[in-house]
Amino acid sequence: MFLGFASWLHKTPISLALQHQVAWLWPVCETLHFAGLALLIGVAGMFDLRLLGFMKRVPIGVVKELMPLALVGFTLNLLTGLIFVISQPAQYFGNYTWWLKVTLLLIAGLNALIFETVYAGRAASIPAGDDTPFALKAVAALSLISWFGVLWAGRMLPFIKLGPAATL
Ligand code: HEM
Repeated sequence: MFLGFASWLHKTPISLALQHQVAWLWPVCETLHFAGLALLIGVAGMFDLRLLGFMKRVPIGVVKELMPLALVGFTLNLLTGLIFVISQPAQYFGNYTWWLKVTLLLIAGLNALIFETVYAGRAASIPAGDDTPFALKAVAALSLISWFGVLWAGRMLPFIKLGPAATL
């Protein structure tokens, strides 16, 4: 089903246009994708470490002020990642490592949403010097594991090619 969609997407005008720009567009997007993930994991990772109980001298609200930068990093990754997928859909839709990356992205996103809706207020009220409750540590641990999982699956895309696209 996904390969049918990939083959349709591959022939759309937007995919064809991107395929013709691939010589310069691909390395530019790879660079931006890398910068985006460094920004995202750098900032969100520091926040997660504070929630885990590191850097207790720093108030959680102060670390949170940097989070818009993590969002900028994620947006860069989303845009450049979509360019990759729209250019060469079958290469990804037919690779199980890609679906692992998507699953981990969904877990990381859902975890961030749960943090924002359920725990953000409670976290912001924790003063400098105080430890965090177990629930916040669990959210932070899942965040670190899932974002690093996304990073690992992304890096492994060209190396672990399992699935119908293995012969591409
Ligand atoms: C938000 C949506 C995202 C999409 C749609 C996406 C999509 C992709 C695609 C299609 C590739 C393969 C590029 C290639 O074949 O050369 C890729 C590579 C990669 N992605 Fe993502 N990605 C996203 C987010 C992320 C995030 C959040 C991270 C890190 C936390 C990440 C880490 C990586 C890494 C490390 C690579 C390998 C880069 C390289 O080999 O130079 N991606 N991504």
